[in-house]
Amino acid sequence: MSAQNTSSNRRILVTSALPYANGDIHLGHLVEYIQTDIWVRFQNMRGNDCTYVCADDAHGTPIMLRAKREGITEQELIDRVNADHQADFAGFHVNFDQYYSTHSPENETFCQEIYTKLKDNGYIVTKTIKQAYDEQEGMFLPDRFVKGSCPKCKTEDQYGDNCEACGTTYSPTDLINPVSALSGKPPIERDSEHFFFKLGAFEDYLKAWIEKGSIQPEIANKLQEWFESGLQNWDISRDAPYWGFQIPGAKDKYFYVWVDAPIGYMASHKHWLTNNSDTPEEDFDQVWNQGSETELYHFIGKDIAYFHTLFWPAMLKGAGLREPNGVFCHGFLTVNGAKMSKSRGTFINAKTYLKHLNPEYLRYYFAAKLGNGVDDIDLNLEDFSQRVNSDLVGKVVNIASRCAGFVNKRFDGKLSNELSEPELYQAFTDASESIITRYENRQYSQAMREIMALADKANQYIDDNKPWQMIKDDALVDQVQDVCTMGLNCFRALIILLKPVLPELSKHAEGFLNIDQLSFADIHTPLLDHNINKFKPLMTRVEAESIEKMIEDSQESLKEEDTQVVSGPLADDPIAETISFDDFAKIDLRVAKIANAEHVEGADKLLQLTLDIGGETRNVFAGIKSAYKPEDLIGKHTVMVANLAPRKMRFGLSEGMVLAAGPGGEDLFILEPHEGALPGYKVK
Ligand code: 2FM
Ligand code: ZN
Repeated sequence: MSAQNTSSNRRILVTSALPYANGDIHLGHLVEYIQTDIWVRFQNMRGNDCTYVCADDAHGTPIMLRAKREGITEQELIDRVNADHQADFAGFHVNFDQYYSTHSPENETFCQEIYTKLKDNGYIVTKTIKQAYDEQEGMFLPDRFVKGSCPKCKTEDQYGDNCEACGTTYSPTDLINPVSALSGKPPIERDSEHFFFKLGAFEDYLKAWIEKGSIQPEIANKLQEWFESGLQNWDISRDAPYWGFQIPGAKDKYFYVWVDAPIGYMASHKHWLTNNSDTPEEDFDQVWNQGSETELYHFIGKDIAYFHTLFWPAMLKGAGLREPNGVFCHGFLTVNGAKMSKSRGTFINAKTYLKHLNPEYLRYYFAAKLGNGVDDIDLNLEDFSQRVNSDLVGKVVNIASRCAGFVNKRFDGKLSNELSEPELYQAFTDASESIITRYENRQYSQAMREIMALADKANQYIDDNKPWQMIKDDALVDQVQDVCTMGLNCFRALIILLKPVLPELSKHAEGFLNIDQLSFADIHTPLLDHNINKFKPLMTRVEAESIEKMIEDSQESLKEEDTQVVSGPLADDPIAETISFDDFAKIDLRVAKIANAEHVEGADKLLQLTLDIGGETRNVFAGIKSAYKPEDLIGKHTVMVANLAPRKMRFGLSEGMVLAAGPGGEDLFILEPHEGALPGYKVK
């Protein structure tokens, strides 16, 4: 946190993976940022000097194509997404010291420097390879942009890197009947000289690095498999047109996005130092040079372990730089026991969540589920409400609300000048040692369990003493102050222990207790002979209705998008699983006359249509507002899916779907049946 370290405590630099600059942050992403943020806050609360940097991963083909599709420059796209991401993270109290972009001058310089060192040290080789090329689009195609039938099992419509049906991996040139996902045309093969990083030269180094216990055992095992199958040279170049940094000394060659992404950790750190240190160059070198005394940790998802446990440490080593002290992988998020699903409304964006629920509910729930392994974690929404309501509202906050009123009303807000049950308080300070170790080792679920066991103890103490009865007995009134002083000290200790997870609640608790910012060491000095402030409720219960609305909203935003762009490019929106003819026959397409069309208040994309299908009318919300004025639609005939199950939307019930096509925006055309077709007629 501070650029100049004055204490002898640990200096630590922490990163989370850099999210791509072409998509929204969703709850799946947040597992990692919340996990990391808790750890960083914990370190700083321990008095260590821990800096947390991140950035948007702003390069690569998908970002280039997305900008093109939106008709804006790449810079405009990445600036917009960056602001959006930062707002989402701030909404969840993820407190980066620096959130930057890989498209930065610092990053370009570092990429060039590291590449040049690798080259000078003999770790770069060139080789001419054959690659799929789209003549119409004038570009080489990344593997995922070529589709065709699997060379092994012959399943159609597979990506150019591996078959989703049989799992075989291959290169796009192996596909049967390959086509470009951009133009739909068969690609040609074209030669191109590529630059490769000699990963194999680092095998011994990497093995020794792993031996130091820098990675989790599950990942170390995976690495063993990779070693056994042999470390291949890594292709680090891409041909123009490519959105990224040019490779120095090579014409029309760019660094592959996965080269400049991890170097972006360094760039973000450097940028932070530039704004926060008087000696940024020296400080930077101290952190990144070999033999550095600053600890370096990367938090990532298990899917990108290969990049962070092989390529990245090898690149650092090859360029004469330091090694990471640890790479911490986490698993994926499922919601209600299944992969997040747009149609079920469980693919929940950060923004949608924040519209309905308190971010600290999720921070606590993730903490209560996260261990230090790579297992997936499940967000079960039922369990989520129960746990938050019972633990945070029912146990922790409740202690303060049970005690505060008596102290404020009967004792002028003053706490007693000694603890009446020192052994009870001792149980809290004793347990804090183990809880601190749990945090350090990222065993948050155990930490939360141990903290809640302490909360149970505190509540039991209050239940046993019953201050609400004592207060009625003149002989016992004075003891109420002592009981509540004990209760509030237990509450304060719980807040200290939960503060890395619940920063906002802790801030309000500090306000109520009338104290400065708490750190872990404060647990050893109870609050005595001290005036507290008036108590305000610190957290409200999770309401089932809010969860329902969030799910509804997640389905709805998808529906608005889906109806707006019916035909997206194959690259972004691959063709769905094949359906049988019988499945298709189930879809009842009818000619419908648009009897009425109106704007929908509060909806950006939707129009409300009344469709006459001959004998009955349907109310349908269609995402075609960008293309049509309502008055121009009235009287037109269109085609609708008439037997789609009605869907409840925020604006009302939608009873079917109108078919439309086009790239979206203004160019969106509702499908019209041939002239003269009567409403209600079947379309075949
Ligand atoms: O997998 C991803 O989402 C990448 N954008 C992560 C990059 S992490 C780091 F290496 F930059
Ligand atoms: Zn196959």
